[in-house]
Amino acid sequence: MTPPENSRVIVTDGIERLAMEGADLFQRSAVASVARTGLFTVAVSGGGTPRPMHRLLAADPYRSGIPWQFTHLFWVDERLVPATDPDSNFGCAETDFLNQLTIPAGNIHPMSSRKPPAAAADDYEHELRRHFSRFSNPEPVFDLIVLGVGTDGHTASIFPGDRSAVETTRWVTAVKGGTPDVERLTLTLPVLNRARCLVYLVSGSKKADVVRSLLTDASVHLPPQRIAPQRGEIIWLLDTAAAERLPQDLPNGIRKRYIRKT
Ligand code: 6PG
Repeated sequence: MTPPENSRVIVTDGIERLAMEGADLFQRSAVASVARTGLFTVAVSGGGTPRPMHRLLAADPYRSGIPWQFTHLFWVDERLVPATDPDSNFGCAETDFLNQLTIPAGNIHPMSSRKPPAAAADDYEHELRRHFSRFSNPEPVFDLIVLGVGTDGHTASIFPGDRSAVETTRWVTAVKGGTPDVERLTLTLPVLNRARCLVYLVSGSKKADVVRSLLTDASVHLPPQRIAPQRGEIIWLLDTAAAERLPQDLPNGIRKRYIRKT
């Protein structure tokens, strides 16, 4: 399966520029969503790649340019470890940007690591239903979802071959696996597939093979290839190392644009 036509690829010349593009996109999406609906609902991922972008969000121009009062922040996935553990996605986000910003506490929606995984998944699904019930369409339509990709082709905590990769009804599910190999919670394909905008942040040459497979190989069936929001767009934000094995022309007329230092 190759990516849908509503995908585009942006290649930046390094992780710093990738972080800046990601933060710009976050801000543009926030401003447009608040103008449209009065709120910005976003889900962020863990892992190392988004951390430089998260640190930028805590500083100007993003700190003052993003309507944080109207921003609701959710998590794409969480490792079920205490928030003080360095592997906690919420803990990292607190350190990287949340602690430096003024956001109403009720706008921050971490996944709980205090309950058994199945109960925590139910709680988070309930939290999503509560949040989205304020809209005329109560489906979980995120304005922006920021994802990463693993070298094995997982995204969120949806791992190739796991039952979370074929989930069709639940919005949140419990999973065990990944690195670190712990119990996790993850948003599911039905939620990812309703997003207005999905951004994959991918950096480094160790991801070049999987990026090439995901964007060009119709014979592989990895979780990101099951994500094709009908009403949204997909942006692949790569650095040159992650993009180094991509051909000049991508399938389905997918556009590829390079951004270099000026
Ligand atoms: C998590 C993630 C996961 C991550 C990828 C890429 O494990 O919490 O959300 O899907 O995005 O594993 O991680 P890196 O950015 O560290 O390569």
